[in-house]
Amino acid sequence: MKITLSIIKADIGSIGGHLKPSQKLLQAVENYIKEKGRGLIIDYYIGYTGDDIAILTTHKRGVLDNKIHKLCWDAFLVGTKVAKAQGLYGAGQDLLVSAFSGNVKGMGPQVAEMEIEERPAEPFLMFMADKTEPGAFNLPLYLAFADPMHCPGLILAPSIKKGFKFLIMDVNYTKADRIIELVTPEESYDIAALLRDTGRFVVESIWSRETKEQAVAASTTRLHNIAGKYVGKDDPVALVRTQKNFPATGEILSPYSIGQFVSGFMRGSHSGPLMPVKKNSTISFFDGPPVVSCLAFSVKNGKLTEPCDVFDHPYWERVRDRISDKAEEIRKQGFFGQAMLPMSELEYTGVMETLKELEKRFKIRKDR
Ligand code: F6R
Ligand code: MG
Ligand code: MG
Repeated sequence: MKITLSIIKADIGSIGGHLKPSQKLLQAVENYIKEKGRGLIIDYYIGYTGDDIAILTTHKRGVLDNKIHKLCWDAFLVGTKVAKAQGLYGAGQDLLVSAFSGNVKGMGPQVAEMEIEERPAEPFLMFMADKTEPGAFNLPLYLAFADPMHCPGLILAPSIKKGFKFLIMDVNYTKADRIIELVTPEESYDIAALLRDTGRFVVESIWSRETKEQAVAASTTRLHNIAGKYVGKDDPVALVRTQKNFPATGEILSPYSIGQFVSGFMRGSHSGPLMPVKKNSTISFFDGPPVVSCLAFSVKNGKLTEPCDVFDHPYWERVRDRISDKAEEIRKQGFFGQAMLPMSELEYTGVMETLKELEKRFKIRKDR
């Protein structure tokens, strides 16, 4: 059976700053999807990570479907009303345009979708990150799909050994989608050369070379490229199918023990280590740290099981402690050097304005 998995995610307001949505707000979004999704969707799950609400739906309408996107957009509009009524911070902040047109891509919310031929057993993972950007998935996806140190399946399982095709997007190009297709293992170094530049090149999808099936769909929207100004970081979502012809669930999770430094954190303008957290986690220290949650599901005829919260396990407690130490270390250098992002990535214009003023006061010293 062909089904579509869709995650549509937005920050439409949160308690106490940019920390987490209120229960009332979540309930309003859920009630809307439950009621208006009848006859349109097969199943849904709604959760949050930090200040972002993610709506996962299963349906038979394919990707970028007008009705599915409108359903989620309208759920966010209804939620925004609740957020405003409760005085939540940043109410409706990710809904950048006033009128819905076609689908939500380029309108503010993050989207990750794929249409799949359901396997007899269909396990998949739903990733949601906050206080970071789409490029945060570059390293973990690269390691899980191209490096046998994390994915021993690449040497042990014949079906995976053929490698994967990566579709990588140049997110700086805003006039249209600018995409390159590269395959592992032959072009692994080329893939690495692009993916190291997390602010510009972002994994959009990954496909099995053996079966041509899609393994990954990740969101690629950069809000400041749409709005032309600071409107919040671009907290990404991703869908990853696992097992059999794809890496095992644990191979996909393996790279998250690194706590790699990503862009985001306070004011979307700092480097911080990416911490794997439990479902429905909030934001705290220094408006961070950058966090990622991951829920595993199985799906049959579009019906979802309850989620398994994969980072809710004793193993990850120690990882989180170590990543807190990494956050402490980089915070010691405040805004100097690598701790704060380069000028092009700052989400606030204050520094630029100061520098413009100071420019006028520079003088060339005359030769004596
Ligand atoms: C980061 C983020 C926060 C805000 C910060 C200031 O993505 O959302 O770190 O940048 O709390 O928020 P404003 O400028 O809204 O007062
Ligand atoms: Mg926010
Ligand atoms: Mg957010």
